[in-house]
Amino acid sequence: MNKTYEITAMELGPMENFVYLITDLSANQAAVVDPAWDVSKIIQYAESKDIKITDVLLTHSHHDHINGVEEILNHSDPQLHLLKDEANFWKAILSTPSLHYGGDNINIGNTEISILHTPGHTPGSACYLLNDDIITGDTLFVFGCGRCDLQGGDPEQMFSTLKKMKTELNPETVIHPGHNYASKVTSQLSEQITGNPFMHFHECSDFVEYRMHTHDKTRKTPYHPITAKELLE
Ligand SMILES: [Fe+2]
Repeated sequence: MNKTYEITAMELGPMENFVYLITDLSANQAAVVDPAWDVSKIIQYAESKDIKITDVLLTHSHHDHINGVEEILNHSDPQLHLLKDEANFWKAILSTPSLHYGGDNINIGNTEISILHTPGHTPGSACYLLNDDIITGDTLFVFGCGRCDLQGGDPEQMFSTLKKMKTELNPETVIHPGHNYASKVTSQLSEQITGNPFMHFHECSDFVEYRMHTHDKTRKTPYHPITAKELLE
């Protein structure tokens, strides 16, 4: 089956954030995921391709992912989507957002996007799943995962979230992370299952210890793959 959509990544700002445009090819309309840092660049790109930005999707509410929301809402009046749990955590005054629950779907033209609730980095973190692609925000990075020691973070929830992704998603799904922290920009889930250290733990307590105390002392970006054998030896 031909893809109904195209994903365009833009690396913007001082923290290596990826802003994504999901463009439905039949309607030439797009959702911007996590608009931040340089909104004019996002708009310019859309205009150069004659793409209308109709929706904004947020993976979570940290400043480096949302600091362009207001500007983009003012520009083309798109519909804003996030999970209700994240809106409650964020407490920002948002004008008429669509507040979702995990399992909801949204449509951009003929492209269907499922919203997954993936808590751990923040209580209402979301991943956006299309056919063969998933936009993972700060939940899952290529060969890494989001930190859980900031306000609202929970390493036990992150353990369950990653376990669910590992067991329930098609291993061929391509991951599009919220930051460019690795030796490559995208990766299939199957490669993450063998090379992402956070995928290797069987016990929640071992995961929590590694995420909260060991990882940041032992690894630096750009992240490279680590096998289970290398990690657990
Ligand atoms: Fe974050």
